[in-house]
Amino acid sequence: MKKISRRSFLAAAAVSAAALALTACGGSASTASSAAASSVAASSEAASTSAAAAELTTVEAGKLTMATNATFPPYEMTTDAGTIEGIDVDTAQAIAEKLGLELQIDDMDFDAALLSVQQGKADIAMAGITVTDERMAVMSFSDSYATGIQSVIVPEGSDIASVDDLAGKKIGTQRGTTGYLYCSDDFGEDAVVAYDNGLTAVQALNNGQVDAVVIDNEPAKAYVESNPGLKILDTSYAEEDYAIGMAKGNTALLEAVNAALEELKADGTLQAIVDKYIKAE
Ligand code: ARG
Repeated sequence: MKKISRRSFLAAAAVSAAALALTACGGSASTASSAAASSVAASSEAASTSAAAAELTTVEAGKLTMATNATFPPYEMTTDAGTIEGIDVDTAQAIAEKLGLELQIDDMDFDAALLSVQQGKADIAMAGITVTDERMAVMSFSDSYATGIQSVIVPEGSDIASVDDLAGKKIGTQRGTTGYLYCSDDFGEDAVVAYDNGLTAVQALNNGQVDAVVIDNEPAKAYVESNPGLKILDTSYAEEDYAIGMAKGNTALLEAVNAALEELKADGTLQAIVDKYIKAE
């Protein structure tokens, strides 16, 4: 499989990922509550990056418009009440506060979210987006704020035990994602079915329409938890860095977002947000 070569496109984000890992290892904020997270974000420190925000022109004045696809727990999901929450939402909220902007969330398909920033309809795309060379050619990325692993979900009792066993099988993925791209590269487009979102891919797996689903590890865990009879293979198809997507060439926004992100990593806010949604195992 192409796991090694895949790692190479991450070189650009590797430095920031290392910085994030250091923050994570520090563990200073691991017990901080979510309340602490929001109060930190709202504290006087907010002023430190708002100078940068003064020069920002956003899609809608005074707002930070975020394109997302809220079917990807725990990064972004829609509650029964219809509100959108998750790691990306809280992180974007904290960034918006630092920039003195009001966060506005636009929920859409994942591929549309990627396009939305390229077309100037949203300021940022935040949707557990993996940094890839292809995407870097058409959009800008912030420093990385999280890592993801492409995982394989199969029914319990499946004869698929490794990524190589996917050869000759039908694989479900979410349209426009790296899971779709890797699988079509490695196993041919005919072997891969692209669904609107991860959940519909998992439902297709439940119905026997596909033999496996390739998707990021955290949503995979959430889907498997709510769908008895499925399991995640103990193997990683690819390791990835998540970052915030923006229009290419919007240096002012890129710098402001990176400065805000840096502060959120340094003061433990980001870790507290992650801990709120991902419980230690
Ligand atoms: N990390 C993968 C990618 O960038 C999948 C992201 C899907 N995100 C979502 N919110 N549906 O392609």
